[in-house]
Amino acid sequence: MPLVEIENLSKVYRKGTQEVPVLRDVNLAVEAGEFVVLMGPSGSGKTTLLNLIAGIDRPTSGEIRVGGQDLSQLSRNKLAAWRANHVGYIFQLYNLIPVLTAFENVELPLLLLPLSRAERRKRVEVTLDAVGLLDRYDHYPRQLSGGQEQRVAIARAIVADPTIIVADEPTGDLDAETADATLALLKRLNDEMGKTLVMVTHDPHAAAAAKRLVRLEKGQLVDDVLPTRERLVVRA
Ligand SMILES: Nc1ncnc2c1ncn2[C@@H]1O[C@H](COP(=O)(O)OP(=O)(O)OP(=O)(O)O)[C@@H](O)[C@H]1O
Ligand SMILES: [Mg+2]
Repeated sequence: MPLVEIENLSKVYRKGTQEVPVLRDVNLAVEAGEFVVLMGPSGSGKTTLLNLIAGIDRPTSGEIRVGGQDLSQLSRNKLAAWRANHVGYIFQLYNLIPVLTAFENVELPLLLLPLSRAERRKRVEVTLDAVGLLDRYDHYPRQLSGGQEQRVAIARAIVADPTIIVADEPTGDLDAETADATLALLKRLNDEMGKTLVMVTHDPHAAAAAKRLVRLEKGQLVDDVLPTRERLVVRA
């Protein structure tokens, strides 16, 4: 059974009396251990689809199951609890809490789980070490570089050992070199730790890190291929 199963998924936003169709009849299956990149023009519905997979938003119609759980059947409260246990979300602008240290930012998702203080501490240390930032544990976000901030954000996304990691343009705000280091880290999470990743990006170079490329246009899936460099260069 695929980890993510999306069937005839549609999302319509309502603005006053106006209905804005954003996703139309999307079908997609993601197997555990895949690294899928989602591309498409601005406004095509990439973030919307990511938010549906992450249980941040709910579909208008159709089905979405993650790890066997039908997300459309959960109430808002149950969905929030499900998310805390199953989803790691990486944002373009890191979204770290400025008044918390790197350690405390990474610890945040663990506060929602039944763990002792010592267990939390151990997990945060192992995870900060995995992203190469254990020596920065007591730094505040403003005392870190952009690339380091994104690595703390990645640590925060993986610390609770989520079922799936979603990333929305995680390298969009980084210079080329830092973006490469960040992509290498995401690739390692997938290759070595077997994490399932779905990543939105506009950058064909970033897309080449993935094993599979899915394209959205005007709310519909138009393409689902293995990314080869040639194809990306031609199509970018
Ligand atoms: N909360 C909302 N209410 C109404 N319309 C929305 C809402 N969120 C998104 N939209 C609309 O849905 C469409 C898709 O938005 P989405 O953010 O998914 O696009 P995207 O593919 O992520 O674009 P970008 O590459 O610019 O981030 C857009 O036309 C947007 O205006
Ligand atoms: Mg977006």
